Amino acid sequence: MLNIVLFGPPGSGKGTQSEKVIEKYGLMHISTGDLLREEVAAQTELGKQAKAIMDTGELVSDKIVIGMIRNKIEEHQDGPGFIFDGFPRTVDQARELRKALTDYDERVGVMISLEVAREELVKRLLKRGKETGRSDDKLETINNRIDVYNRQTIPVTYYYDKMHKHAAVEGSGSVNKIFDRIVEVIAKVKS
Ligand code: AP5
Repeated sequence: MLNIVLFGPPGSGKGTQSEKVIEKYGLMHISTGDLLREEVAAQTELGKQAKAIMDTGELVSDKIVIGMIRNKIEEHQDGPGFIFDGFPRTVDQARELRKALTDYDERVGVMISLEVAREELVKRLLKRGKETGRSDDKLETINNRIDVYNRQTIPVTYYYDKMHKHAAVEGSGSVNKIFDRIVEVIAKVKS
């Protein structure tokens, strides 16, 4: 199995690049943001609780997202591998991911973090907010999402650094150019 964590701040291109990685390597996509939005759209109890949190830009509880991830890993344990998009976002989530994969004798091959300047992130997300109406793509929430990332999520990079699994990739420029950089990193893991 090839298991990749695609990491980075809000708007850094995790979803955009995940699509291209999936197309090339046939991995199973697990985006905790998408899974939570599915719950919101279905108006489940979990979705109602999650929406209130997501609209402020704070993180949904570790317990909820870890449960969702474990279910997905179990469902697709015989596949070619996973791309985790927007997960883990806390060190506890990273530890739980490790445990969940270890249960299937698997591990994270590489954690790729997309590096993009804050002004560029805000610009991209405001544009998407105008185009799609995504409810957390408004200035106040965007700023809090980036602050939460800097405070609670950046420590995840140190966790993977210690295991020599963290690869930083420049995340600005054309989508294809960024993808070429990601492919270079994955080639090293696969060889
Ligand atoms: P989530 O859905 O994960 O949102 P996010 O991390 O804020 O990321 P985005 O989807 O906004 O950005 P992205 O990096 O995927 O970039 P994208 O490719 O879309 O999480 C939403 C919320 O859910 C969180 O705030 C939290 O509340 C909750 N949540 C989710 N996971 C959780 C977890 N594990 N634990 C706890 N809570 C969790 O691109 C963004 C825009 O930029 C697009 O319009 C795109 O077209 C454009 N773009 C992409 N690449 C480029 C480029 N190279 N040049 C120009 N524009 C580009």
